Amino acid sequence: MNFLKFKNSKLFFESVNIEKLAKKKKTPFYLYSQQQLKHNFDFFKSTFKKLNPIICFSVKSNSNVKLLSYLKKIGAGADVVSMGELLIALKAKIDPKKIVFSGVGKTDEELNFAIKKNILLINAESESELQNLDSIAKKNKKIVSVGLRINPNIKAKTNKKISTGKKDDKFGMSFEKCLKILDNRSTYSNLNFDALSVHIGSQILEVEPFRKTLSALQKFLDKINKIGVYPNYIDLGGGMGIPYNNERQFNLKQYAMLIESFKNKNNVEIIFEPGRFISGNSGILISKIIYIKSSRNKRFVIIDAAMNDLIRPALYGAKHQILPVTKSKITSKISTEFVGPVCETSDSFITYNKYFKIHEGNFVCITNVGAYGRTLASNYNTRPYSEEILINKNSIQTIKQRQSLKSLIE
Ligand code: LLP
Repeated sequence: MNFLKFKNSKLFFESVNIEKLAKKKKTPFYLYSQQQLKHNFDFFKSTFKKLNPIICFSVKSNSNVKLLSYLKKIGAGADVVSMGELLIALKAKIDPKKIVFSGVGKTDEELNFAIKKNILLINAESESELQNLDSIAKKNKKIVSVGLRINPNIKAKTNKKISTGKKDDKFGMSFEKCLKILDNRSTYSNLNFDALSVHIGSQILEVEPFRKTLSALQKFLDKINKIGVYPNYIDLGGGMGIPYNNERQFNLKQYAMLIESFKNKNNVEIIFEPGRFISGNSGILISKIIYIKSSRNKRFVIIDAAMNDLIRPALYGAKHQILPVTKSKITSKISTEFVGPVCETSDSFITYNKYFKIHEGNFVCITNVGAYGRTLASNYNTRPYSEEILINKNSIQTIKQRQSLKSLIE
């Protein structure tokens, strides 16, 4: 179900006419739909109902505290990767017993803080980190639950820059290394090896890589059971993709069935860390056309959003569809490239062979930016962060102010 829809020729998010709202606001701004977020979370939860998993929303995909508070209200935990993300998850009142902490380079300060807050799990990614964690746990006089982040050497079939589960990627440890660690687990006096975790990449649209991961995990569990290790949790990470450009939906039901049979064989609790699947289509970016610059066979549509607001096209070649907020006729074949004002050739969003009739001053909507949109934004070209607005049925609320130029400059 998609809450972004044309009604007659006007684009609506839930029941909000986007053009009417845009006329009252300074563009660009991020606009989120609470109903879409709820729909996505509930759909995820109900598809995995039989597993009764702990769903730790991946804060890196969207860290707006109001959105996190709402997700908490409907049952989410958090997957965090920094002190900042941990603090924001706690600020959103997410139960520490539903927080997992991953990342290859957690500092002493971060580990110490996570230990003090008694979070559910720290997913360790190297032997050095485990040793460090053990000694910090000792100083805190605590036994800490730790997950071993496994690098299963499985191809995620996704963009190279967001693949994390191949042996040449920096993430996790090989099965051999994890086995060695578990064999020597008695040397870590203050760690409880409570979990195995994997995350093979992001924006994965096929179930096959996940099936391979589960079967590799099963083999490994069989091995470690033999040496007396029975983890309580299997953290399967995130990575389930969404359609950006008419791709097929990820088959969540099929994935659920695979995990159900995995869970039936092993007495474990399942943890997920979905980001994009929950937040991706819950956000759009509204921008205004500043100029249209035409040459003989091409027109550049220069909008007031730029790569600093949304870097995914420049960074990954991602294609986010751009919709006019008022649908008009499609022009004859003029190649139309949407670009931002930043002084980089890569500050370009998408090119169409033909597009609607549009004019300077019109508003456009960049779709599917609720995940890794605002969280990857920067101040490049000394441009401030945009306002973030949340729609919920008839209510429209600013959930983050646009950054003032004064605060940016000071
Ligand atoms: N868990 C771990 C350990 C992760 O590293 C990630 C994402 C997730 C969960 C959530 O993955 P998701 O369900 O959202 O796919 N900036 C890139 C995506 C980078 C993902 C990094 N890790 C993009 O814009 O596509």
